[in-house]
Amino acid sequence: MSKRTLVTSALPYANGPIHLGHLAGAYLPADLFTRYRRLKGNDIIHISGSDEHGVPITIAAEKKGVSPQEIVDEFHERNKKVFKEFGIEFDYYGRTSSPLHRETSQEFFKTLNDKGIFIKKSEEQLYDNEINMFLPDRYVTGTCPSCGHEEAYGDQCEKCGTSLSPVELINPKSVLTGNTPVSRETEHWYLPLGKLQPEIEEWINSRSGWKANVMGQCKSWLKEGLNDRAVTRDLTWGVPVPLEGAENKVLYVWFDAPIGYISATKEWAREQGDEDLWKTYWQDSETSLIHFIGKDNIVFHCLMFPLMLMKHEDYILPENVPANEFLNLEGRKLSTSKGWAVWLEEYLKDYEPDLLRYVLGTTLPETKDSDFAWKDFQIRINSELADILGNFVFRALSFTDNFFDGMVPELKNPGEKEIKALEEIDKSKDRISQSYEKFRFREAIAETMNLARTGNKYFTETEPWKTRKEDPEACGNTLHVSIQICAALSVLFTPVLPQKMERLRKNLGLKNGLLWDDVNQSMIKTGSKISSGEILFHKIEDEVVEAELKKLKTRAGVGKTKTSYVPLKKTTDFKNFASLDFRVGLIKNAEDIPDSDKLLKLTVDLGFETRTILSGIKKQYDPEAITGKKVCVVANLEPKKMMGIESNGMVLMAEEEDGDLHFLSTDAKIGSPVF
Ligand code: 2FM
Ligand code: ZN
Repeated sequence: MSKRTLVTSALPYANGPIHLGHLAGAYLPADLFTRYRRLKGNDIIHISGSDEHGVPITIAAEKKGVSPQEIVDEFHERNKKVFKEFGIEFDYYGRTSSPLHRETSQEFFKTLNDKGIFIKKSEEQLYDNEINMFLPDRYVTGTCPSCGHEEAYGDQCEKCGTSLSPVELINPKSVLTGNTPVSRETEHWYLPLGKLQPEIEEWINSRSGWKANVMGQCKSWLKEGLNDRAVTRDLTWGVPVPLEGAENKVLYVWFDAPIGYISATKEWAREQGDEDLWKTYWQDSETSLIHFIGKDNIVFHCLMFPLMLMKHEDYILPENVPANEFLNLEGRKLSTSKGWAVWLEEYLKDYEPDLLRYVLGTTLPETKDSDFAWKDFQIRINSELADILGNFVFRALSFTDNFFDGMVPELKNPGEKEIKALEEIDKSKDRISQSYEKFRFREAIAETMNLARTGNKYFTETEPWKTRKEDPEACGNTLHVSIQICAALSVLFTPVLPQKMERLRKNLGLKNGLLWDDVNQSMIKTGSKISSGEILFHKIEDEVVEAELKKLKTRAGVGKTKTSYVPLKKTTDFKNFASLDFRVGLIKNAEDIPDSDKLLKLTVDLGFETRTILSGIKKQYDPEAITGKKVCVVANLEPKKMMGIESNGMVLMAEEEDGDLHFLSTDAKIGSPVF
């Protein structure tokens, strides 16, 4: 183990609340690891905070009709609070809108620029003519050139993880207007990943102990060859580029966000009253830097940020990046926009944090995507936490209280069963340690529960309720051994169940501040007084599971009960509205476009003329089925070329939450205006 450790967990965008997917990806594993290492006596700090720049924030603000600052202020506070309530112990939770962060990231950029690391390029980028703005990153969606996913973002495809630039998307669309963007020239600073690939490749190849999913992902990108990445953007929200001639440009959010780890550590150091303390964690080779992230962040933490750190030359590089895969919910991909998610704030209104820490900990997507299901939540709580751990602790403590006046009996002439059960404490402690060190948290938790299982089994097999009268010495031995196992569990289970184990330690009369190495076969001396047993875990009833499933399905509109709506767009004036010319049209003919997986080619009669209009309804409608339909058309949209065919207008459709499209039909005469 290194002398000291700096753990970071991905800075969540401050544009929405924390859900189970976030927890399973980065925060719970980071917290388990930090708590474990702290118990081992390691000098370790855990740093995170809000990612407050970037297009996801401005899009959220635009959708809500408020300023980006209002959005980030709200979610920074809410997320910080809910993490605390869930027991994620950050040493510092910063935010990238802080002045020190601006200063730190500008310094970083300037240093790399002065060293001649960047290249400046003038390139065509996507532009929305209607609203006169460039469309970087998530302002554009389209089809992923790598995997064909149709809803890839301009910066990344969340399905295959490929990092993209908007111009690479097939059939790009402006998120703000739905327009097909045009190209326009602009100048930006690039990190020349192409040229620097050999250096990063050598570093990646020298890593050991990295998870196979992370290494595999890195190597496959390296094999494809890295593209240069622009580190500046034509936007107004973000850290201004600190150079003359770069007005109206900000640093790319993925340039400044990881620097947020550094600025938050600086702020933490200030809070500790030692301004320079951050340097020990970022610049001393005896520190190991470990980034906990979800798989969509691998490219930035394994290739781009290490390269930035390498080129700055003052920093250590990450020792490991134990990224997790994705968590699904009830067998489906988690989707906040569709309401298919469980938010932490909502969870904590009804249940204790430790229950979810345990269940999620046993289901972490460590090597492949995994699934959270409410039924599984119930089973794990009832048959593991309640029936094994809770039952064992309750029996051991209440038996001692009832029949030994709460005094831990002496261990006299221990038999093979006693010796074996006690030895299990040391063996488990080592196995659990090894699993934590390898970032195998599911295994660590299973091993810890196995110790409780051993204790429970030992208690049952030695039948103290029988030996109490027949063989009091044997009965005393059962209680002595069981109490020692409870004491060991009260420390070994602390990373997962911090609140419950604190209560258990109190009941056992153990002092605060026990460490991993204090765990042994005789943590509680003979004759020590313990409190009576209490039920640590209550069982979850079937109705609770049913209610949770119903709530989830109702919210997401699964099973046709629709309750959530797309947010309303910003108010527009009448002039704007009146500038659009809607007409009644008749679909005279509909044809398939074989190369497109979305579009049909429609011939629409508007009375005064007949037009070709392309419509993205192929997945839902057969061409024959819609011929002869009267529809509503936007008749004065400028022509747009798609798949080499010019489309002259747009057929209006109503889209339901699950993506079902419906025509707006009418009996009115063809060509009639609609308003
Ligand atoms: O994917 C995300 O949610 C990003 N906000 C993570 C940033 S991690 C770091 F680099 F700050
Ligand atoms: Zn893809």
